Amino acid sequence: MIEQFKQDVDAGLSANEKSLPSQYFYDATGDRIFQEIMDMPEYYLTRAEDEIFFKKTQQLIDALNVSKDSFFEIIELGAGDGKKTKKLLKKLVKQGYDFVYHPVDISGNILEHLEQVLAKEIPDLDVQPRQDHYFDALAAYNASAHKKVVLFLGSNIGNLDDELAADFLYQMGSNFKHDDILLLGVDLKKPRDIVLPAYNDSNGITARFNLNLLTRINRELGANFSLDNFSHAPEYVEEEGIAYSYLLSLATQTVYIESLDKTYNFAEGEKIHTEISRKYDEDILNNIIAETDFKLVSKIMDSNAYFADYILKRQ
Ligand code: AVI
Repeated sequence: MIEQFKQDVDAGLSANEKSLPSQYFYDATGDRIFQEIMDMPEYYLTRAEDEIFFKKTQQLIDALNVSKDSFFEIIELGAGDGKKTKKLLKKLVKQGYDFVYHPVDISGNILEHLEQVLAKEIPDLDVQPRQDHYFDALAAYNASAHKKVVLFLGSNIGNLDDELAADFLYQMGSNFKHDDILLLGVDLKKPRDIVLPAYNDSNGITARFNLNLLTRINRELGANFSLDNFSHAPEYVEEEGIAYSYLLSLATQTVYIESLDKTYNFAEGEKIHTEISRKYDEDILNNIIAETDFKLVSKIMDSNAYFADYILKRQ
C-alpha cells in the first residue's frame, strides 16, 4: 500500500500539471472530516440521498426486483457509515428477505465501526465486510451464483472521470448476470450557486479535508509540506457539470519527501489538482454506459430533484 502511495505521489507531483489521487483523502482523519462534510448544511448530497432512502424505501426494494424465495447478496462499494443503507437493510430483514450484506470499503476503521453499529441495530442481519479496493472486491464476488445487488451510492462514481467511470462500469457489467442490479447514486447537474458551496463551505471543513492530504504525505512519506503555504481552491464548471478541487501554492517553494529522497518545486499560484466531483444527467450517464452491458431501467429522486438513485441492469 505504502509503495503504491509513494509511486502515486511521485508521479502526480512530477507531472507538468500536478495532481494527487483523491483516494488518499481517506485516512483515519480524512474519514472523520468526511463525516463532518456530510453533516454540513452546504453538502446537500447526503440529505438528498438520505431522503430517497428514508422516504422511498419500499420503492427502492421494489426496484431491486428481489424475491423472498431466493437468497441474494447486497454488495455496497464504499459503504461509509451505512446511515442510509441501514434503512433499506432494516426493512428487508423485517419483510423476511434472505440475503447477506457485504459492505466494502478501503478503510478498515469505517468497516469496524459499521459492523458494530449493525450488530446492535439489526442483530438478525448477516454482515460480511470486506476491506478491499472496489475492483478486487467485485472480482471476488463475481464467482457467486446468487443474485447480486450492488450499491454504489453517495455519488462516489463522480470522483472518477468519465473514462474511468466507463471502464469501471464496463468491468462491473461484464461480470453481472442478467438479473443482477446496480443501484447507482449520483448527484445531478445543477447551478453553480448550489454546487460550489458544497465544496467550499464557510467553516473551512472541506479545506481541512483537502489539506489533510498534505498532512498524510508529511506523516507517511516524511515530507515537509507547510500547510500554511497551500490553500483549498475549488471550482465548478457549470456547463460541464464538474467540481474540481485544487491545492493552491501560496508561494514559490520547494518540498522534500524523505521516503522518495526527492524535492518538488512549486511556483506561486501553481495548483495541485486533487479531486473531481462529476454531476450527471441522463445524457452524461448514457454516454458513460454506452460501451458497457448496462442499461438504465429507472430512477428514484429526492423532492428537490438534486440527486438520483438509478437502477441499472445488464442488457
Ligand atoms: C465521496 N465523494 C462523493 C465526495 C464528493 O462530493 O465528491 C467527496 C468530497 N470531496 C469534497 N467534499 C466531498
